[in-house]
Amino acid sequence: MMMKMKSSVRGSAAASAAMCCLVLLITTADFCNGGVTSRFVRKPEESQDMPLDADVLRVPPGYNAPQQVHITQGDHEGKGMIVSWVTQDEPGSSKLIYWTENGKKQAAYGLITTYDYYTYKSGYIHHCNLKNLEHDTKYYYEVGTGGNNTRQFWFKTPPKVGPDVPFTFGLIGDLGQTFDSNATLTHYENNPIGGQTVLFLGDLSYADNHPNHDNVKWDTFGRFIERSAAYQPWIWTTGNHEIDYAPEIGETKPFKPFTHRYHTPYKASISTAPHWYSVKIGSAYIIVLSSYSAYGKYTPQTEWLEKELPKVNRSETPWLIVLVHSPWYNSYNYHYMEGETMRVMYEPLLVQHRVDLVFAGHVHAYERSERISNVAYRVVSGDCKPAKDDDAPVYITIGDGGNIEGLANNMTEPQPEYSAYREASFGHATLSIKNRTHAYYT
Ligand SMILES: *[C@@H]1O[C@H](CO)[C@@H](O)[C@H](O)[C@H]1NC(C)=O
Ligand SMILES: *[C@@H]1O[C@H](CO)[C@@H](O)[C@H](O)[C@H]1NC(C)=O
Ligand SMILES: *[C@@H]1O[C@H](CO)[C@@H](O)[C@H](O)[C@H]1NC(C)=O
Ligand SMILES: *[C@@H]1O[C@H](CO)[C@@H](O)[C@H](O)[C@H]1NC(C)=O
Ligand SMILES: *[C@@H]1O[C@H](CO)[C@@H](O)[C@H](O)[C@H]1NC(C)=O
Ligand SMILES: [Fe+2]
Repeated sequence: MMMKMKSSVRGSAAASAAMCCLVLLITTADFCNGGVTSRFVRKPEESQDMPLDADVLRVPPGYNAPQQVHITQGDHEGKGMIVSWVTQDEPGSSKLIYWTENGKKQAAYGLITTYDYYTYKSGYIHHCNLKNLEHDTKYYYEVGTGGNNTRQFWFKTPPKVGPDVPFTFGLIGDLGQTFDSNATLTHYENNPIGGQTVLFLGDLSYADNHPNHDNVKWDTFGRFIERSAAYQPWIWTTGNHEIDYAPEIGETKPFKPFTHRYHTPYKASISTAPHWYSVKIGSAYIIVLSSYSAYGKYTPQTEWLEKELPKVNRSETPWLIVLVHSPWYNSYNYHYMEGETMRVMYEPLLVQHRVDLVFAGHVHAYERSERISNVAYRVVSGDCKPAKDDDAPVYITIGDGGNIEGLANNMTEPQPEYSAYREASFGHATLSIKNRTHAYYT
């Protein structure tokens, strides 16, 4: 399925027309009050985690060789990259060497952190923030220098931000590390559209589904995604499986494994916590929100978002995209209305600032909404129906990366009017932005 979208500097009539066309074209499944419900289920049974000795989870050979290498954008504009890796046996070298095709080698030094979780002790987690990189340039880098277990990788920095800069994002949520997760990642890697950066919608390793939140699963997840995440930035959203709050085993600091292992460039957007922040990439302004951090009135996240949205310059970044884990519009019988309190708090802001797209995960299925809002809600009048709204974003749930918990296939019936398309499936999506008016979502 492919849909065409126009950004907020759009002619709304044209945008609606494009979306109507889409709905008409794909009305082959049963038609309810709302849009289309596809009964296709790729595989109904839950998937198993890949075993510790699976080919794609292997520890790289050699003593203390760097593993779990992954990168994420390191600043607001795309001239920085945070490179992270783990050395298991000893701290090893925190030096990173990087160079361009014809440039000379440069060195940067990272910081090392470790953490304990119940009886688990982490390896040495390195984070190195490369700064002042050239845009649109291929960089090679080496970690584990000094020993004979040096490993080499490469990445390409994003182009300079501008209103008509084309850029292709991959979208993955709720990935985990099952055989289905591996199929999803393989499909993404083989997708001819060529995703340049992954927007990840939360729920990474699912370590917390194992006894005592077996943190070895955090290590295997890191090794699993390395084949993609070492070569292109993954932009991280935190999900409920990142909370790892387990007072019964004395683990009371929320997000402990995640925050040690996955850094985000939150300070660059004047955020005070790694779970909510923004980055500019191509012609898109990406705002990451946290479903599991406080979002009431006067909370740090709310104060940040209220200041953040007016800063977006739509002449520079016409596309305004929000990532969040728990969906605000969800017509499945899973996690039903879990996103409702955050919707009540933030939806008026998003409509006011004409956000184009809101991506979520959490519900292990796919769903796309019409451009609707529900900002008229008043307890006293009971007025609370989503209504067509050209200023409102399209909401897309893509929480179907293939994790251990299986697919969500129990839907509320009939399909609500605001829901344009839904299908229990697993996989990834791509968003290919062409210029300030056109983007293709598949
Ligand atoms: C290289 O690694 C091997 C084992 O993997 C080790 O025995 C050897 O001492 C290492 N050599 C150097 C120069 O570090
Ligand atoms: C995972 O997928 C890759 C192909 O991308 C394949 O080579 C590998 O054997 C798969 N591993 C498992 C455990 O399914
Ligand atoms: C917004 O971006 C445009 C295009 O990059 C630039 O010309 C303009 O000065 C910016 N406006 C503000 C207020 O920064
Ligand atoms: C689907 O969810 C509804 C609401 O939670 C529940 O009553 C029903 O039994 C579920 N159906 C199946 C087949 O699990
Ligand atoms: C924007 O991209 C679309 C799709 O590729 C193309 O049809 C359109 O001509 C482009 N607009 C401009 C102004 O280049
Ligand atoms: Fe979740």
